[in-house]
Amino acid sequence: MAMIAPSILSADFANLERDIRNIEENGADFVHVDIMDGIFVPNISIGIPVVKAIRPVTKLPLDVHLMIDRPIRYVEEFVKAGADFVTIHVEADQPQNTLEALDKIHALGCKAGIVLKPKTPAEAAIPYLEKCDMILVMTVEPGFGGQSFMADMMPKVTKLRNWMQDINPNCLIEVDGGVDSKTHAVCKEAGANVLVAGSAYFKATDRAAFVKLVQS
Ligand code: DX5
Ligand code: ZN
Repeated sequence: MAMIAPSILSADFANLERDIRNIEENGADFVHVDIMDGIFVPNISIGIPVVKAIRPVTKLPLDVHLMIDRPIRYVEEFVKAGADFVTIHVEADQPQNTLEALDKIHALGCKAGIVLKPKTPAEAAIPYLEKCDMILVMTVEPGFGGQSFMADMMPKVTKLRNWMQDINPNCLIEVDGGVDSKTHAVCKEAGANVLVAGSAYFKATDRAAFVKLVQS
């Protein structure tokens, strides 16, 4: 059993409202929103005005993944734009600022979490565990959709799941990158309970069936 968060990075941006309504109609659990600044990752996607514009389009929680340098500068604006979860990369700033950013997100009444790039070990999450409602383990290098799933991230998922069992069992463990109709199974076995899917969701011939398969 898991939840699915289709990533609108693979949506048709000229028909974003249609594609987001479709995500809800197909029974998904979250809308995953990838924010890229061209500095923390070598790509630029969408920003605060788009989050604000899509907020009224769906009742689903907006899971906003910030791939931006020093996210503390912008977390407040993303919360105010309508994010339900804001996740920030531990690699994007000094630990003190990351801790402060998590507090800032919580103080605004929003759920907060951290993200680990593939080369970042699980141990890098330790200073933040008490403050996390979600921990996102990247299963590709952040920046682009459509890359191959890194199965060697699964021990990291299991380690974090086990640690959070004691600290905060309600903390969501999310994986992002290369999740498809084959790779979803090992993610759940490893202990992930939210699976992001961009290209696999949008390419599926039967999206509702794909959602059900990932949730099963
Ligand atoms: C990558 C993004 C992902 C991306 C996943 O940097 O964080 O959310 O949309 O795309 P797929 O599922 O195609 O790997
Ligand atoms: Zn993402």
